[in-house]
Amino acid sequence: MRVFEIQGGFGMERLVAGERPDPRPGRGQILLRMKAASLNYRDLLTVTGKYNPKQPLPLIPCSDGVGEVIEVGEAVGRVAAGDRVATLFAQKWWSGRPEQEKLRSTLGGPYDGTLAEYMVLDENGVVPVPAHLTDAEAATLPCAALTAWSALVTLGEVRPGDTVLVQGTGGVSIFALQMATILGARVVVTSSKAEKLEKALALGAWAGINYVEEPEWGKKARQLTGGAGVDHVVEVGGAGTLEQSLKAVRIGGRISMIGVLSGGRAEIALTSVVMSYVRIQGLLVGSREGFEAMNRAIAQHELRPVVDRVFLFDETPEAFRYMAEGRHFGKVAIALG
Ligand SMILES: NC(=O)c1ccc[n+]([C@@H]2O[C@H](COP(=O)([O-])OP(=O)(O)OC[C@H]3O[C@@H](n4cnc5c(N)ncnc54)[C@H](OP(=O)(O)O)[C@@H]3O)[C@@H](O)[C@H]2O)c1
Repeated sequence: MRVFEIQGGFGMERLVAGERPDPRPGRGQILLRMKAASLNYRDLLTVTGKYNPKQPLPLIPCSDGVGEVIEVGEAVGRVAAGDRVATLFAQKWWSGRPEQEKLRSTLGGPYDGTLAEYMVLDENGVVPVPAHLTDAEAATLPCAALTAWSALVTLGEVRPGDTVLVQGTGGVSIFALQMATILGARVVVTSSKAEKLEKALALGAWAGINYVEEPEWGKKARQLTGGAGVDHVVEVGGAGTLEQSLKAVRIGGRISMIGVLSGGRAEIALTSVVMSYVRIQGLLVGSREGFEAMNRAIAQHELRPVVDRVFLFDETPEAFRYMAEGRHFGKVAIALG
């Protein structure tokens, strides 16, 4: 089968087309004909060796994909041939608390990922996807969507009438905008580009702030809420944004610590966390149980993931470059089938 894999070292130039033997499903396993994959920032870090420099190679990158079950092994009962399913980011995290073994069972490193014509997975490592979604849309759910869901719903307790601030207009943030909106919250979006803010407003955002023109965007967000502050910040910026997030958030509010796009080590005034009763909540994607709950909401609200562009399988390196340049709004997908 055809794959894209990282071969012989890290770097964008090492992401190349390759061939692997067609996989066969064993006991408890299923064979998927892959239809589409989607990219996450983590996949860029993996290809360039910044996510895990000790990752053995070759590796098929990408955690997210959707495929059709075309064969099932012995003793498979959860899914059947013909089902359309998405991959579970952490293959062993089905429910319950996050634990080390569950969090290490991730696709696209250390396990081979979704940029392949076929995949064999444990029957427990997939989730049926909502029928109204295209393959490319469904392929965006495993990481970015579930992360936004975990931040806002599983852990975040966002309620109608809340104000949620999302940073930038990438995959996680646009899902957070869409999900916060169906939860009845109003959403403030930050972006480096005016045209992306326009798109976010068209999607239902309540306000937009250009974080390049307004370096004090946290203060600005607080002003927008009449001085009270926002209830929840979806933090994807990390070191370069946390200080402003603390200015934006209300007393007793929450910061979901998701990404570190601008750096992973921050010097922050801990007294402002203490005095303001702020909860900073780290999280890593979510469990299958969360994925299934999210899919029910997506189906009921007919939520459509925002897919900026779908690349062909052969154009995979171009898709990675497109994302690295930050040209996308929402998600970037790759058609596989
Ligand atoms: N913890 C988890 O479970 C989890 C899951 C998924 C992702 N993540 C992390 O979350 C982050 C975002 O991932 P993603 O896949 O959504 O990325 P993405 O789609 O590539 O989004 C990148 C966007 O973030 C915005 N951005 C970049 N630097 C920023 C800054 N300093 N301040 C505000 N916005 C900034 C930009 O938006 P504009 O172009 O609009 O300015 C950029 O287009 C990454 O660090 C990723 O590793 C973590």
